Amino acid sequence: MARTRCDRTAAWAQLQTAYAATGKSLDLREAFAQDASRFETFSQSAPYVFADLSKNRIDAGTEALLLDLARQSGVEAHRDAMFAGEKINHTEGREVWHVLLRTPPEASNDGSHRSNELAKVHETLNAMLAYAETVRADAAITDVVNIGIGGSDLGPQMAVLALDAFANSGKRVHFVSNVDGHELAATLKKVKVDSTLFLIASKTFTTIETMTNAHSAKAWFAAQGGTDTARHFAALTTNVAAANAFGITTTFGFWDWVGGRYSMWSAIGLPLAIAIGAQGFRDFLAGAHAMDAHFRTAPLEQNLPVRLGLLDIWYRNFHGFTSRSIAPYHSALRRLAAYLQQLEMESNGKRVDGEGATLPFGTSPVLWGESGTNGQHAYFQMLHQGTDVVPLEFVAVKTPRHDLGGHHALLLANVLAQAQALMVGKVDSGGHKHFPGNRPSTFLLLDDLTPASLGALIALQEHRVFVSGSLWGINSFDQWGVELGKVLAKDIEARLASGDATGLDGSTAGLLARLRA
Ligand code: F6P
Repeated sequence: MARTRCDRTAAWAQLQTAYAATGKSLDLREAFAQDASRFETFSQSAPYVFADLSKNRIDAGTEALLLDLARQSGVEAHRDAMFAGEKINHTEGREVWHVLLRTPPEASNDGSHRSNELAKVHETLNAMLAYAETVRADAAITDVVNIGIGGSDLGPQMAVLALDAFANSGKRVHFVSNVDGHELAATLKKVKVDSTLFLIASKTFTTIETMTNAHSAKAWFAAQGGTDTARHFAALTTNVAAANAFGITTTFGFWDWVGGRYSMWSAIGLPLAIAIGAQGFRDFLAGAHAMDAHFRTAPLEQNLPVRLGLLDIWYRNFHGFTSRSIAPYHSALRRLAAYLQQLEMESNGKRVDGEGATLPFGTSPVLWGESGTNGQHAYFQMLHQGTDVVPLEFVAVKTPRHDLGGHHALLLANVLAQAQALMVGKVDSGGHKHFPGNRPSTFLLLDDLTPASLGALIALQEHRVFVSGSLWGINSFDQWGVELGKVLAKDIEARLASGDATGLDGSTAGLLARLRA
């Protein structure tokens, strides 16, 4: 599969010229004044998501060049290779096949690798969902504690919160991720041994934080007189042997071709399935699958993940913007930013290309955010009047799931007003009250926040990250950058006990001494 790094295409040089000529100085207010159909041109529908891109600093010429860039970089072939199950995660020799987790079963098995894996996916999904229903029906279980970190925590946690309106199991779902014992201790105070189900969620079943918490949970369980581990512990992992060795017999597996940050569609989604039920989880998968089909088949110029990924490149590599802020105007989406941080920054926070050559351009922006309207009363000051331009991505939901009068109209008025204010600005000669405007934003609109629309929204984000990573020529599917700290932590843990500071830098040695004093 031929990929050409984006800076080695003809379109890249053309975009540099276009940026200098018109891109840099594009003024959104003028662009709207000159083009009555700008909203129509730069907005589109995709499954469950309407997107208004018109308040972004692009024009038709730029977008055409960005689409050329995508074609010349070979993103379509790369996308097709992902869907076909080629080992595009070449530094780990693995397929990148999370899309298979949300692919409906096929009528017949043709014996191909894909067909065999899909059969396994559905066998496990059916077993996992049957188990979720058993737990839901079990009135004696009142609390579910998910112990996992990173992809084994952020996705299910974000989704359980997001779909709270659909949670009808009557169970409290807790998430423990941090190795900081305060977190587990606080959760254990809230639960009782006979009525708690612990889910140990770890792709590798070796992650130190998760294993430390799991061991402590097991010790607490035994100390409280718990004996029935099969009933009170289940493991969600690709490493079933390690889970068995730990003493857990109830296990739901997945496969090494599921990246941790792409794993909530697998057995890692069990907390969500318990919260919203089997049908809700199937709807969640179906929404994502609809977005997969859109990404796979829509022409590039009407392909929303492609358009968003190209905007990301335009802003990062031509405008030089270093961050992107996400502002979901729905309190149930309050963990979306944390989830997207891992998705974007662990995937695309890379400084070398697929061949290991140092890149001459920037990659992952810093992704951050908070739900609206809270962010407005914290950091929006900087977005409106600060020295840096931060492209903002608003997410709004048309229909509320509560019946409190007035709130939703006010919420929607605020999200529209913020996007408007960022763009139009306000002239004031005094300086302090001047808003420069021309600050770009994208507006994603869902009709309703449901399992299906959330699935589609997340799949959209996965694919836009794929697109920018693909053009940058990096491997978006490994995460070697988290390894060094893990190794050093082991070394320092031993030194904290022994006090040995041999070979340490002065700062680490000094802090070690203070901590031991
Ligand atoms: O942070 C590194 C990482 O490997 C993530 O990619 C992953 O989601 C997380 O650790 C947890 O890993 P595991 O599910 O194997 O415990």
